[in-house]
Amino acid sequence: MITTAEKVLFLKGIELFSAIPSADLVGVALVTEEVEHRAGEVLMREGEIANTLYLILEGTVIVTKGERVLAELGEREVVGEMALLDAAPRSATVSAATDVSTLELHRDPFEQIMSDRPEIGRGIIKVLTQRLRTSSALTPEAVERRSTVG
Ligand code: CMP
Repeated sequence: MITTAEKVLFLKGIELFSAIPSADLVGVALVTEEVEHRAGEVLMREGEIANTLYLILEGTVIVTKGERVLAELGEREVVGEMALLDAAPRSATVSAATDVSTLELHRDPFEQIMSDRPEIGRGIIKVLTQRLRTSSALTPEAVERRSTVG
Protein backbone atom coordinates (compact mmCIF):
# COMPACT_ATOMS: atom_id res chain seq x y z
CA MET A 1 0.00 0.00 0.00
CA ILE A 2 1.22 3.48 -0.86
CA THR A 3 2.15 5.73 2.07
CA THR A 4 1.15 9.40 2.44
CA ALA A 5 4.77 10.46 1.80
CA GLU A 6 4.85 8.41 -1.41
CA LYS A 7 1.53 9.95 -2.48
CA VAL A 8 2.93 13.45 -1.93
CA LEU A 9 6.02 12.62 -4.01
CA PHE A 10 3.78 11.22 -6.75
CA LEU A 11 1.43 14.26 -6.68
CA LYS A 12 4.41 16.62 -6.94
CA GLY A 13 5.34 14.87 -10.22
CA ILE A 14 1.89 15.43 -11.74
CA GLU A 15 1.49 18.46 -14.00
CA LEU A 16 -1.75 19.42 -12.27
CA PHE A 17 -0.19 19.72 -8.82
CA SER A 18 3.43 20.56 -9.59
CA ALA A 19 3.06 24.25 -8.65
CA ILE A 20 1.76 23.39 -5.17
CA PRO A 21 4.28 23.14 -2.32
CA SER A 22 4.79 19.60 -0.97
CA ALA A 23 3.60 20.66 2.49
CA ASP A 24 0.21 21.59 1.04
CA LEU A 25 0.04 18.39 -0.99
CA VAL A 26 -0.17 16.38 2.23
CA GLY A 27 -3.80 17.51 2.53
CA VAL A 28 -4.49 16.34 -1.03
CA ALA A 29 -2.70 13.02 -0.42
CA LEU A 30 -4.85 12.36 2.65
CA VAL A 31 -8.12 12.64 0.71
CA THR A 32 -7.07 10.31 -2.12
CA GLU A 33 -7.60 6.57 -2.04
CA GLU A 34 -5.55 3.94 -3.85
CA VAL A 35 -7.74 1.91 -6.24
CA GLU A 36 -6.61 -1.04 -8.40
CA HIS A 37 -8.19 -1.89 -11.76
CA ARG A 38 -7.60 -5.16 -13.61
CA ALA A 39 -6.71 -5.16 -17.32
CA GLY A 40 -9.94 -4.87 -19.33
CA GLU A 41 -11.90 -3.24 -16.51
CA VAL A 42 -13.93 -0.12 -17.34
CA LEU A 43 -12.99 2.76 -15.03
CA MET A 44 -15.69 5.07 -16.39
CA ARG A 45 -18.34 4.95 -19.10
CA GLU A 46 -19.35 7.65 -21.56
CA GLY A 47 -22.64 9.26 -20.46
CA GLU A 48 -22.40 8.36 -16.77
CA ILE A 49 -22.90 11.00 -14.09
CA ALA A 50 -19.80 10.92 -11.93
CA ASN A 51 -18.02 12.46 -8.98
CA THR A 52 -14.47 11.14 -9.15
CA LEU A 53 -11.25 11.56 -11.06
CA TYR A 54 -8.27 9.22 -11.12
CA LEU A 55 -4.56 9.92 -11.07
CA ILE A 56 -2.68 7.07 -12.72
CA LEU A 57 0.05 5.66 -10.48
CA GLU A 58 0.95 2.78 -12.77
CA GLY A 59 -0.33 1.18 -15.99
CA THR A 60 -2.11 2.37 -19.11
CA VAL A 61 -5.72 3.25 -19.88
CA ILE A 62 -7.46 3.71 -23.22
CA VAL A 63 -9.96 6.52 -23.80
CA THR A 64 -12.65 5.72 -26.38
CA LYS A 65 -15.73 7.46 -27.72
CA GLY A 66 -17.95 5.04 -29.59
CA GLU A 67 -15.59 3.17 -31.89
CA ARG A 68 -12.94 5.88 -31.84
CA VAL A 69 -9.80 5.69 -29.70
CA LEU A 70 -9.13 9.22 -28.42
CA ALA A 71 -6.03 8.63 -26.33
CA GLU A 72 -3.85 6.31 -24.35
CA LEU A 73 -2.92 7.68 -20.94
CA GLY A 74 -0.36 6.42 -18.46
CA GLU A 75 1.63 7.11 -15.34
CA ARG A 76 1.22 10.58 -13.78
CA GLU A 77 -1.75 11.48 -15.98
CA VAL A 78 -5.22 12.46 -14.82
CA VAL A 79 -8.44 10.96 -16.14
CA GLY A 80 -12.06 11.80 -15.35
CA GLU A 81 -11.42 15.47 -14.59
CA MET A 82 -13.86 16.81 -17.22
CA ALA A 83 -17.07 15.65 -15.53
CA LEU A 84 -15.85 17.28 -12.32
CA LEU A 85 -15.08 20.55 -14.05
CA ASP A 86 -18.32 21.04 -15.99
CA ALA A 87 -20.70 18.75 -14.05
CA ALA A 88 -21.73 17.11 -17.35
CA PRO A 89 -21.82 13.32 -17.93
CA ARG A 90 -18.59 11.46 -18.75
CA SER A 91 -17.38 12.49 -22.21
CA ALA A 92 -15.76 9.14 -23.05
CA THR A 93 -15.22 5.59 -21.83
CA VAL A 94 -11.94 4.79 -20.08
CA SER A 95 -10.74 1.17 -19.84
CA ALA A 96 -7.65 -0.39 -18.30
CA ALA A 97 -5.30 -1.61 -21.05
CA THR A 98 -3.06 -3.21 -18.40
CA ASP A 99 -3.49 -3.71 -14.68
CA VAL A 100 -3.78 -0.13 -13.47
CA SER A 101 -3.17 1.40 -10.09
CA THR A 102 -4.73 4.81 -9.40
CA LEU A 103 -5.40 7.41 -6.75
CA GLU A 104 -9.08 8.29 -6.63
CA LEU A 105 -10.09 11.87 -5.80
CA HIS A 106 -13.70 12.91 -5.18
CA ARG A 107 -15.46 16.06 -6.37
CA ASP A 108 -15.77 17.85 -3.01
CA PRO A 109 -12.10 17.70 -2.01
CA PHE A 110 -11.11 18.49 -5.62
CA GLU A 111 -13.28 21.63 -5.58
CA GLN A 112 -11.87 22.55 -2.17
CA ILE A 113 -8.29 22.20 -3.47
CA MET A 114 -9.14 24.31 -6.54
CA SER A 115 -10.51 27.12 -4.39
CA ASP A 116 -7.59 26.91 -1.93
CA ARG A 117 -4.91 26.76 -4.64
CA PRO A 118 -5.80 28.69 -7.81
CA GLU A 119 -2.51 27.44 -9.39
CA ILE A 120 -4.39 24.20 -10.08
CA GLY A 121 -6.47 26.09 -12.65
CA ARG A 122 -3.33 26.73 -14.71
CA GLY A 123 -2.43 23.03 -14.49
CA ILE A 124 -5.90 22.06 -15.67
CA ILE A 125 -5.76 24.49 -18.59
CA LYS A 126 -2.41 22.95 -19.60
CA VAL A 127 -3.75 19.38 -19.45
CA LEU A 128 -6.90 20.25 -21.41
CA THR A 129 -4.94 22.25 -24.00
CA GLN A 130 -2.50 19.38 -24.57
CA ARG A 131 -5.43 16.96 -25.01
CA LEU A 132 -7.17 19.29 -27.43
CA ARG A 133 -3.98 19.62 -29.48
CA THR A 134 -3.49 15.86 -29.60
CA SER A 135 -7.09 15.02 -30.42
CA SER A 136 -7.32 17.78 -33.07
CA ALA A 137 -4.21 16.38 -34.70
CA LEU A 138 -5.72 12.89 -34.75
CA THR A 139 -9.17 13.55 -36.25
CA PRO A 140 -9.81 11.67 -39.51
CA GLU A 141 -10.46 15.06 -41.15
CA ALA A 142 -7.01 16.31 -40.12
CA VAL A 143 -5.35 13.17 -41.41
CA GLU A 144 -7.30 13.48 -44.69
CA ARG A 145 -6.37 17.19 -44.99
CA ARG A 146 -2.71 16.46 -44.43
CA SER A 147 -2.70 13.84 -47.14
CA THR A 148 -4.40 16.10 -49.72
CA VAL A 149 -2.60 19.40 -49.02
CA GLY A 150 0.49 19.94 -51.17
P1 CMP B 1 -14.60 12.72 -18.20
O1 CMP B 1 -15.40 13.36 -19.26
O2 CMP B 1 -14.97 12.98 -16.79
O3 CMP B 1 -14.62 11.13 -18.43
C1 CMP B 1 -13.92 10.62 -19.55
C2 CMP B 1 -12.50 11.10 -19.50
O4 CMP B 1 -11.70 10.74 -20.61
C3 CMP B 1 -12.46 12.63 -19.52
O5 CMP B 1 -13.04 13.12 -18.35
C4 CMP B 1 -10.99 12.87 -19.73
O6 CMP B 1 -10.26 12.65 -18.56
C5 CMP B 1 -10.69 11.74 -20.73
N1 CMP B 1 -10.73 12.25 -22.12
C6 CMP B 1 -11.80 12.61 -22.83
N2 CMP B 1 -11.46 13.02 -24.06
C7 CMP B 1 -10.11 12.92 -24.11
C8 CMP B 1 -9.14 13.19 -25.12
N3 CMP B 1 -9.47 13.65 -26.33
N4 CMP B 1 -7.83 12.96 -24.82
C9 CMP B 1 -7.48 12.48 -23.61
N5 CMP B 1 -8.36 12.19 -22.63
C10 CMP B 1 -9.65 12.42 -22.88
